[in-house]
Amino acid sequence: MQRKRAATSADVHELIAQRWSPRAFDADAKVTEEQLRALLEAARWAPSFGNTQPARFLVGRKGDAVFDRIFGTLTKRNQSWVRRTGALLAGLAVTSNEKGDIPYAEYGVALAAQNLVLQAVAAGLAGHQMAGFDADALHREFALPEHVRPVVTIAVGVPADAEVLGEQRLVDRERSERSRLPLAEFALAGWDVPAF
Ligand SMILES: Cc1cc2nc3c(=O)[nH]c(=O)nc-3n(C[C@H](O)[C@H](O)[C@H](O)COP(=O)(O)O)c2cc1C
Repeated sequence: MQRKRAATSADVHELIAQRWSPRAFDADAKVTEEQLRALLEAARWAPSFGNTQPARFLVGRKGDAVFDRIFGTLTKRNQSWVRRTGALLAGLAVTSNEKGDIPYAEYGVALAAQNLVLQAVAAGLAGHQMAGFDADALHREFALPEHVRPVVTIAVGVPADAEVLGEQRLVDRERSERSRLPLAEFALAGWDVPAF
């Protein structure tokens, strides 16, 4: 499997350094029920505004109907590699409750999603988040209530060597370096003033 450890200017936890978003997955490897349950537990314990807990996840296992129904809403480009992943989830935001609108509902889904993805790394899996899906189609497909909004889909599986992608262009992209803004542009003491 391809490793793409983050190049950091200070020591960060291995879970964070090792996490990345692969597209090369082992089509024969399973995500076990225990692993899947742990992913959802990690997500469930994410923080949220006033503990409103706006996040929900649809959980598809490869070969089941939930996987196929989420899969059907993905862009063709995402479908081309997600067909090799063992699980496919959709993160939903509950945008209101009996008290009115839930502030930061999507932020709550994002925090839960990141917990889930880091738990995947800890288990030797990888999670790849995707906005490339049709949120309206997903909403219809699962007959979701009006106040529930699909935010993100997440493919989870056992990472494999880039070669499984076949096409050289895709293999090269899988092996390309990851990049981020320099810390001096990211951590600020004022606009355009580096904090470090
Ligand atoms: C909200 C969100 C939506 C994304 N949508 C897609 C997507 O539809 N397809 C895809 O292949 N990658 C998608 N990605 C993955 C990003 O391209 C990736 O996280 C980014 O390039 C940084 O790379 P890294 O995760 O390997 O560090 C998405 C990531 C996030 C957080």
